[in-house]
Amino acid sequence: MSTDTSHKLSLHDFLGFKARGEPIAMATSYDHPTAYFADQAGVDAILVGDSIGNNVLGYESTLPVSMDEMAVHCRAVSSAVNRAFVIGDMPYMSYQPSTRDALLNAGRLMAEGGVDAVKLEGGAAVAETVRALVRAGVPVMGHVGLTPQSAPALGGYRVQGRQAEAAARLVEDARLLEDAGAFSVVLEAVPTELARIITETLSVPTIGIGAGQHCDGQVLVMHDMFGLSLRKLPKFARQYADLGQALRSGFSAYRDDVKQRNFPDAEHSYHMRREELERLRELLGKPGEVAMLSPRSGA
Ligand code: KIV
Repeated sequence: MSTDTSHKLSLHDFLGFKARGEPIAMATSYDHPTAYFADQAGVDAILVGDSIGNNVLGYESTLPVSMDEMAVHCRAVSSAVNRAFVIGDMPYMSYQPSTRDALLNAGRLMAEGGVDAVKLEGGAAVAETVRALVRAGVPVMGHVGLTPQSAPALGGYRVQGRQAEAAARLVEDARLLEDAGAFSVVLEAVPTELARIITETLSVPTIGIGAGQHCDGQVLVMHDMFGLSLRKLPKFARQYADLGQALRSGFSAYRDDVKQRNFPDAEHSYHMRREELERLRELLGKPGEVAMLSPRSGA
């Protein structure tokens, strides 16, 4: 698949990756400039994850993230992207209470947020919701394994499906999602062996995060990739740049320049012509004339 940014990837293109065995590179982004750069770099899919809660909004978890926040950030991302397939995460309690809530909120992310698809967490418990969304024309990505919105019920953020029975339930969850019409399923924090079995079982692409190398694609949280996360890097994440350190040294150099009056210098300042400055001084010597000047008499 080319990384030609004049061609917007469709759902059909997304499915084509698995058909020809090309891994899908997906990353999160939550804002316009980073989405622009991810798209320019040829990232195939961008997830506006509800991980915005921990990574951008300063929340302890993803649970407080609201639909209003997701809609705004989905719009910021989708309006920056020319090629990548954009997926908006359905936040906590935007789809769990009823199918009607799910339809209205998914519709908001598509219409207001401009995303190409939505993602929601859960297996068997959300299969009928997925079916209703797909029937209404909303492409849905599923998400099983470690599902952060149910971390309290799962006993925290821990690897899922290490035991055979739990692993079999996850295979069944993924199957039910595919049967309900999900076009792809995220596998988070599951053993590599299990992710391989699910990937071989499904005909739609699996996207792994902490799920090993056999998934049809991978997703990473951009704050982990670029040293911007304030938490410890998870075992499964790889850091590709240290933007945190670059920001720290940039802010520090700026601070020093300001304190030492090295910034701004003449190059970064605007100037008046000498005659205008002299006229200004004359005018200021005659306060009565200044009072009579019209507010629009000069830029
Ligand atoms: O919100 C998110 O970033 C996610 C990924 C971890 C898949 O759901």
